[in-house]
Amino acid sequence: MEAPAEEVARLRAEVAHHDERYHGLDDPEISDAEYDALVRRLRALEDAHPELASADSPSQAVGVAPSAQFSPVEHLIPMMSLENAFTFEELRAWGDRLTRRVQESSAFVCELKIDGVAMSLRYEGGRFAQAATRGNGRVGEDVTDNVATIAAVPERLEGDAPELLEVRGEVYMPVSAFAALNRRQGEVGGKLFANPRNSAAGSLRQKDVSITASRELSLFTYQLGAIEGGPPLRTHTETLELLAALGLPVNPEIRTVSTLDEVYERCRYWLEHRHDLDYEIDGVVVKVDDLALREELGSTSKAPRWAIAYKFPPEERTTRLLGIMVSIGRTGKATPFAQLEPVFVGGSTVSQATLHNEDQVRAKDVRPGDLVIVRKAGDVIPEVVKPVLSERPAGLAPWTFPADCPRCGQPLQRLEGESDTFCRNVDCPSQRRARIEHFASRGAMDIEGLGERTAVVLLDTGLVADPGDLYRLTLDQVGALDRFADVSAANLVDAIDASRRRPLANLLFALNIRHLGPAGAEVLARAFGTLDRIVAASEEELAATDGVGPVIAASVAGFFALERNREVVEKLRAAGVDFGRVEAPALPQVLAGRSVVVTGTLPGYSREAAEEAIKARGGKAPGSVSSRTTALVAGAEPGQAKLTRAAELGIPVLDQAGFEHLLETGELPDLPSG
Ligand code: IVH
Repeated sequence: MEAPAEEVARLRAEVAHHDERYHGLDDPEISDAEYDALVRRLRALEDAHPELASADSPSQAVGVAPSAQFSPVEHLIPMMSLENAFTFEELRAWGDRLTRRVQESSAFVCELKIDGVAMSLRYEGGRFAQAATRGNGRVGEDVTDNVATIAAVPERLEGDAPELLEVRGEVYMPVSAFAALNRRQGEVGGKLFANPRNSAAGSLRQKDVSITASRELSLFTYQLGAIEGGPPLRTHTETLELLAALGLPVNPEIRTVSTLDEVYERCRYWLEHRHDLDYEIDGVVVKVDDLALREELGSTSKAPRWAIAYKFPPEERTTRLLGIMVSIGRTGKATPFAQLEPVFVGGSTVSQATLHNEDQVRAKDVRPGDLVIVRKAGDVIPEVVKPVLSERPAGLAPWTFPADCPRCGQPLQRLEGESDTFCRNVDCPSQRRARIEHFASRGAMDIEGLGERTAVVLLDTGLVADPGDLYRLTLDQVGALDRFADVSAANLVDAIDASRRRPLANLLFALNIRHLGPAGAEVLARAFGTLDRIVAASEEELAATDGVGPVIAASVAGFFALERNREVVEKLRAAGVDFGRVEAPALPQVLAGRSVVVTGTLPGYSREAAEEAIKARGGKAPGSVSSRTTALVAGAEPGQAKLTRAAELGIPVLDQAGFEHLLETGELPDLPSG
C-alpha cells in the first residue's frame, strides 16, 4: 500500500504532466475521463488529509501558465473553472448546498458544455478589440488575430452596443470539419488531431493566422465577463438575450427551467442526444439564473458556487491492442481494423475498431501490443485514437499491411494516389458475401431477412453466386437449408419477389458500383429513366448529368463495360426485375410547406441539383436564411453569412447525411427539439 503522502506526490506529478500535455501541447496521452479520475483521487486524498493540501497542487490550478509564444493578457475578471458533477446524486448535493446557503429559490439555466477552447472576447465601442485564452485563469494568451478569422465572431456588435464588453465563450471545431481536416492531414502525412477540441486548440495557437483562417472554427458565447454602459441585467437569461441581440453567437439549445428535476431531464436528454450535434459536448452546465443570488453565493478560489458542470460518463478508454486484421468489403476494399481487449466505452463493450486504411495506421503508429485510447466516434463506430507511447512495451514492431487478401489469398493492390487498398479478385468469397448483403440492404433492394448470415449460407451451399441468382431461388431450395423453418423460407422468397418492383435508383445503388451512393443513383435514375439507358450511356453522357461528377461517371461507365456485370444485369432482366421504375412526379411531397436553404457544394450534387431535389419534394429552396427557414444545408465552402444567420436564429444546419435524411423522410435528423 502506498502511503497517502507518496500517493499525493505521485498524483500531483501525474496531473501536472497531463495538464501540460493537454493544455500546453494539445496532445493528451490519456482520455478526459481518466484525467478526471486522477484529479478526483487527488482531491479526495487532499480532503481526507488536510495536512497534505497545498495551494500549488495541480488540483487547485485552472489550466496552465500561458505560453511565451503569445503575449500575455490580464483578464478584467478572472476566468474561473467549473465544479464537476459526475452523477445525479452529485447534482442533487449541489442543489442542496444552494438551498442551505440562500433562502430564495431561483430558476436554473441549462446550457451545453461545449468541448472546445475557453475564450474571452473584448469589444470596445462595439468593435472587436481582443481575444484571449484562459491561460491560468488570471492571465491568458493574446490570440486576437487568430480569433478575428473566425466567421462567427462579429467584427462589430449590432444595435446599442455597450462601451465595453468582455464576454466568455468557447471556440470549437464542428465534428464534420474535424473529420475533414484529419482526412486532409492523413493525405499529406500531416499530424492527426486526437479530437475536435485538440484540433480547435491547435488551429488557434498558430503564429501564422492564415492557418487558423483555413480551419473551420466557430464560437458560442455563454457568459458575461465585464460590461460598461449596458442595460441593467437581472438574470442570466436576460444576459444571453442581450448577447444574442448584439449579434454574438449563443447556443440555440439553452433552456431556462425552474426545478432540479427539469435539470435532470435536460441532462438525460443530452446524454442520449449528444451526438446529434455537429459539435462535441461533454456535459451540461447548470447555472443559477438570478444574478443577485449569484452574488450572494459567491465563489471558491477556483469555481463559482452558482454553477456546476454535469459531466457525461466517459466515451474514451484505454485498452490493449491485441492485433490488426484486414476485412474485405463489397468493392474489395481492404480495411484494417483493431482487435481489442474488450472494453466498455460509450455505453457498450468494444472489441473491434476501424483503422480506416494503411495511412491511418501509419500516422497513428499503433502497433499490436500497444495500450491504445479507444473512442466511440459519432456514437456507433468505435475508433482507435492513438497509442499511449509512454506505456509501449519494448521491441514492438510497426504493423505492415498484408501483401495478400486474408480471405482468398490473391495479392492486395493499392492504387496510385489513393489511400485505399483493394482485393482485385471479384470472386473473393468475402466480396461476394458483402455484395449480396449490400444488394439486399435497406436503400438498395430492401430484402427483409437477407442479412450477413443468410448470405453466407446461400453462397456456401452454392445456391447463389451473385445477386442475379437470388430471383431463381425456389421455396424448396430455401426450405431445405438448415437455417430456415417453413415460414421463414416462405418469407424470404416473398421478400425477394417483392424486391423486383423497387425503384430504379434502389436497383442502381444495389448493383454495388464504387462511388455511387443513394443520392447519385437517384440523380442518374431521374435523368436516364431506365437501366438500359444508363448501361448504354457513355462516360461523357453520364458526366454531363447535373449532380454527377467525373468520378462517379467514370465508375459507372467502367462498371457496365465489364462483361460479368452485364451478365448480372441480364439475369436481373430475365428474373423480371423492374428496370424503369422512376417515381418521377410521384415523389412523396415530404417537404411541402417547408423552406430549405442550400449553401456550399455537396458531393454528388450541384447547388442546383440540391435545390431541385428539395423542390421535387414540394419544398421551397430560397437563397437566404430567415426565421421561416426549416434547415440550412451546408456543404463544402459554405457561405459564412448564412451559417452565422442560421446560428443566430437557431436554425438547424445539416450536412450531407442530414440532408439526405431530410429528403427521404421530410424530418430533421433527430435534432434535439427542446
Ligand atoms: S461557464 C465561471 N458555460 O467549461 C463559469 N463554461 O470546465 C465559466 N464550458 O472553462 C464557465 N461550455 O471552457 C460555461 N456553457 C458553458 C460552457 C463552459 C463549455 C467550458 C469553459 C470552462 C470549462 C469549465
